[in-house]
Amino acid sequence: MGKGLSKKNMQPEHSCNLREVVLNAKPPSTGKKQVAIDQVIQQIEHLPTLPQVVMRVLSMAESPKISAIELSKALDQSLASKVLKLANSAFYGGRGQKISNLHHAIMMIGFESVKEIILTTSFFHTLHDARDVQSLRPLWEHSLECALIAKRLAWIYRYDSLDEAYLSGLTHDIGRLVIQQYFLDQFEEIEEKKKSGRDWLEAEKEVLEMTHAEIGGKVAERWGFPANLIDVITHHHDCSWTQNPTMGKILHYADRFTFGELDFPAMLESFTKEGMNPPSTWDSTDLASVEQILKEEAEKARSMFRFATGKNS
Ligand SMILES: [Fe+2]
Ligand SMILES: [Fe+2]
Repeated sequence: MGKGLSKKNMQPEHSCNLREVVLNAKPPSTGKKQVAIDQVIQQIEHLPTLPQVVMRVLSMAESPKISAIELSKALDQSLASKVLKLANSAFYGGRGQKISNLHHAIMMIGFESVKEIILTTSFFHTLHDARDVQSLRPLWEHSLECALIAKRLAWIYRYDSLDEAYLSGLTHDIGRLVIQQYFLDQFEEIEEKKKSGRDWLEAEKEVLEMTHAEIGGKVAERWGFPANLIDVITHHHDCSWTQNPTMGKILHYADRFTFGELDFPAMLESFTKEGMNPPSTWDSTDLASVEQILKEEAEKARSMFRFATGKNS
C-alpha cells in the first residue's frame, strides 16, 4: 500500500512500516508556525477532565455489580438530561413511551446501550466548548462510528471489555481535535503538506514533533485512562502497542474499516492472519448478518452525533 491519503482525504493510508518513517522523521527545523512539544503538552494540561462516570463505566468489567443507581449518582444534572435525550432519540428508544430516568432507560433500551450513551455524552459534554463543532463534525462522526465498530469487533473476538473498546474508538483521534482546536496555524501547515503529497503522520511530526496519535495518548493520560488504553491510542496507526495486542488490533482495524480502507472480508482476513477468529460455530449467514450490522453503524453514528451535540441538522 502506498503512502498518502485515503479516498476520504482524512486518514493516512496505513502501513505498519510507517512507524519507522514516523520515528525517524526529522524534528522541525525552522519556521514561525512550528511549536515545541512542551507547548502541546501545556495545552493538553488545560483540557477539561472527563466526568467521573466514564471511569465508573470502565470499571464495570471488573465490578459488574455496579448498579444503575451508582451510575446515575455520577451524572450531573446537565449530563443526565443529555443521556435521557439520547435514550429517547429515534435510534435508541423513541418508540412512543417516554424514558424519564436512568433506571427506566436501562429497562427500555438495555444496560449496554445506556453505557454507550453515557460514554458518548460525557465525551461531548467535556468538549462542548470546542471552537466549532460543525467543522469538527467529520472527526466526531468518524470517532463515533469507530467506537461502535470497535465494540462490535470486541464482541466478535470475545474481548472482555466492550466498554473499553467503545471508549478507545470514541477517543482515539482526540489528538486531531487538539491540533485543530488549539494549533490552528500548525493545523493549516499540516493540511498544506498533505495537499502536496506529504504523508499525514510525517507532516504532523515535522510541524508539531508529535503525531495526533501520540498527542491523543497524552490526553488519555491526562484523563486517567488505564495504561493499556493509553497505549492503544498512542499506537493506533503504527501498531507498536505493547500492553494489549488484542485491544490494539481491534482499534486499529476498526479505524481502518471506518475509513473504508478495508472492507468486511478483508478485515476478517486481517484478524485471521493475526490469529484472531470469529466463533467457530458461525456460518456464512451469521457473518453476512454481522457485516450488515457494521454497515448500519455509520447511520447510528450520525444520529448519535446529532443528539449528543444538540446539532440536529
Ligand atoms: Fe488516527
Ligand atoms: Fe481515526
